[in-house]
Amino acid sequence: MTASAAKDIIARAVEVLKENDHGDYTVPTKGLYPFQWNWDSCLTALGLAHYDEARAWTEIETLFAHQWPDGMVPHIVFHVWNDGYFPGPEVWRTGRPTATSGITQPAVAGFAVRRLFDRARDRKLAAARARALLPRIDAWHRCFYENRDPKGEGLVAIVHPWESGRDNSIDWDEAFERVPTEGVEPYTRRDTLHADPAHRPTQAQYDRYLWLVQHFRGLGWDNARLHDASPFQIVDPGFNAILIRACADLADLAEALGETRIADANRARAVRGLAAMERLWSEAHGQYLCLDRITGKLVDSASVGGILAAFAAIPQARAAAIAATVERLAGKARHVVPSHDPGDPRFDAKRYWRGPVWLVVNYMVADGLLAAGHVEVARRITQSSLDLITESGFAEYYDPLTGEPLGGGRFTWTAAMVIEFLREM
Ligand code: GLC
Repeated sequence: MTASAAKDIIARAVEVLKENDHGDYTVPTKGLYPFQWNWDSCLTALGLAHYDEARAWTEIETLFAHQWPDGMVPHIVFHVWNDGYFPGPEVWRTGRPTATSGITQPAVAGFAVRRLFDRARDRKLAAARARALLPRIDAWHRCFYENRDPKGEGLVAIVHPWESGRDNSIDWDEAFERVPTEGVEPYTRRDTLHADPAHRPTQAQYDRYLWLVQHFRGLGWDNARLHDASPFQIVDPGFNAILIRACADLADLAEALGETRIADANRARAVRGLAAMERLWSEAHGQYLCLDRITGKLVDSASVGGILAAFAAIPQARAAAIAATVERLAGKARHVVPSHDPGDPRFDAKRYWRGPVWLVVNYMVADGLLAAGHVEVARRITQSSLDLITESGFAEYYDPLTGEPLGGGRFTWTAAMVIEFLREM
């Protein structure tokens, strides 16, 4: 790509970010997602920093201003009233001063804050704002290991598919059979008003998503109780790898700022987590798999969650096998990295997390593989991502076979990732 083409794309990406900016937080996209989402915001901050560092720190601070007293950081903050999204505050009923959801999302904040800090041109500002966020992010990490790893295995479980960020992945299908649908209150979905129903989760899945929400609401959203009371407890390798990477990054950052207690605690979490990840490795698939904590078995589903694990400092041999797996996938799909292996009969090129490519995932996989020395594969992922943008714009997700844009348009984190990809070219 020529320098002027790159400049033009960055200018268009900045337009998308500005359009979705509400002053101290961004929304993922207008219409479909009118509130602040947890991991969207943290990754979006990297794009904001490109033109306004102070605004980038604010994005993450706004999210953490709504952290729960027990350390949990909710997956949605409902800053303003809007009836365009379901389930809204009247369904979650978490009783927070500003309404939030009651579940969480992948813990990218530790990674994002360290990256903002490392690149900051305004060093004084960065040190002050990072220092204030450190104990909050540390509390979130502690909350995960306390509540989602009750037996101290070193790995945390999600209790709702939405926590993974990969809402309707094939990974959850089997475990979801255990989630009942009786007693789900009548509701009207809103996502299908904004996007093609054939590209979204099915109705049967939605009923189960809501059953879990009602079930947790019945437990008063007490994080100490949700895990054991949930019929859905999945150890997702991608989710854990993000948390492990965030712990390691937070440890480095805390060290740089002289906060040794936070540094030591997070280093220890990362070391234990990395060792425990071995339990999730599948030699047959050349990637990690989810573990169903209720059956004690690995889930036979080669999704991008097990590839995303490369975001953490996994052993060399594991990273090499994952790089080979991505190359294999590139032979089956025009654009990498598909959220599911196209060779699997359950693959669906257009349905949300059951096949499509998502640029945030590409960014984290490429980052991890690059750090592990797999430069060519990382470049290939970056190139695929830029091809998708050039051909199909800033979509929510893309068909890996045709490159067609899917879901919502003018997407904030997609735009932020494009800025990131271009600075790394
Ligand atoms: C969808 C995605 C989730 C994302 C949210 C907002 O629910 O699955 O990962 O955070 O949209 O963009």
